[in-house]
Amino acid sequence: MKIGVIKETKTNEKRVAMSPSVAKNLKSRGYEICIESGAGILSSYSDQAYTDSGAEILSNTDVLNNSDIIIGINPPSDELINQIGENKIWISLLYHKSNNDLIKKLADKGLTIFSMDAIPRISRAQNMDVLSSQANLGGYKAVISGANELGKIFPLMMTAAGTITPSKVLIFGVGVAGLQAIATAKRLGAVVEATDVRPETKEQAESLGAKFIQVEENKPTQNNQLKDTIITPEALNKFEESKSHGGYAKEVSDDYKQRQKEAVNKSLAQADLVITTALVPGKKAPILITEEQVKQMKMGSVIVDMAAEQGGNCELTQMDKTIEQYGVKIVGKINLPGELAQVASELYAKNISAFIEHLTNKDGFKWEMDEEITKATLIVKNGKILVD
Ligand code: NAI
Repeated sequence: MKIGVIKETKTNEKRVAMSPSVAKNLKSRGYEICIESGAGILSSYSDQAYTDSGAEILSNTDVLNNSDIIIGINPPSDELINQIGENKIWISLLYHKSNNDLIKKLADKGLTIFSMDAIPRISRAQNMDVLSSQANLGGYKAVISGANELGKIFPLMMTAAGTITPSKVLIFGVGVAGLQAIATAKRLGAVVEATDVRPETKEQAESLGAKFIQVEENKPTQNNQLKDTIITPEALNKFEESKSHGGYAKEVSDDYKQRQKEAVNKSLAQADLVITTALVPGKKAPILITEEQVKQMKMGSVIVDMAAEQGGNCELTQMDKTIEQYGVKIVGKINLPGELAQVASELYAKNISAFIEHLTNKDGFKWEMDEEITKATLIVKNGKILVD
């Protein structure tokens, strides 16, 4: 089975879907690999490095024509879709739920497509989980980017000229990116606080040394229920489930947003660096910092908004721009993992390699249509759309 790797064409994308070490490993397991010439250059992987790992370097057209599976990172451009021959198998991030037109175009070509972002968040799929591998790097890079914009240092420093107090970092959203941001900011010596809508993240944030900001709950209690009502475990469970679905956050109520504001305002006004990572699948990112709140922040403080591509968690964020408002810098960079292209490509390649090995055996694709990972990721088969 031949896996073809194309050069990414999206603006500012430096990553590539295959690294030389992963190509070597796949080759040793019986797969053939071909790479578009120059595909790895921006990730610091030369054509020679791929050749040394046993891969073949080909032109774009030859990769598309000679491969059984074509892999990339970003969804294919219209130009690329026109070039891909019928009956090929395409694998990349596709965000199919918000990309209906793209999925239809790919289906109209008669292709079979798998979406890497649809890999379920289950234990046995962890080595295929590109959202996690990339968010992890993104969380790290968000802290480094924020530190670069600050006129302060992170750690406490005692010098002959006096003592410098540590920076205060506030993190919204304790998912994969948020946890890595906490760990990175702590390692650099900052005092870190974090908040999330999912209560189970309290323990995770605290285990990394952050103080968790708890948003006061409107939990069912004897006081806000009818007198004599017994609060059953079922009622409490239902209440907890109302905040998450399959481990992901759900959209929160206006009432929650108001209580969240009250809970974080003091920390926000004292923070040097704020990192926001809050996302709700399939929805625009929730606004967690309003213009009014930015006005209350310290002059010289920085917000790195990791949700910029989904509309931003700060009301003032501008996608892919760094702006300054009311003395606060707001960084709306997208594709933070792409700024760490070499490692991001290596991890993506490991994820996609584990995924391909899961889907195939020596005879080709297994097509286990009822298997959980296959079912979630196989979006189109031979032109037929299978998942909404
Ligand atoms: P995400 O990128 O969808 O969201 C980031 C964080 O923002 C989440 O923690 C979410 O709860 C939080 N958030 C959303 N709305 C918010 C609001 N209004 N205020 C404050 N915070 C808000 O999350 P990510 O990192 O993709 O993780 C999603 C889930 O998947 C988590 O439960 C995570 O533990 C789980 N997971 C499971 C894996 C596995 O078992 N294989 C691997 C990776 C993640």
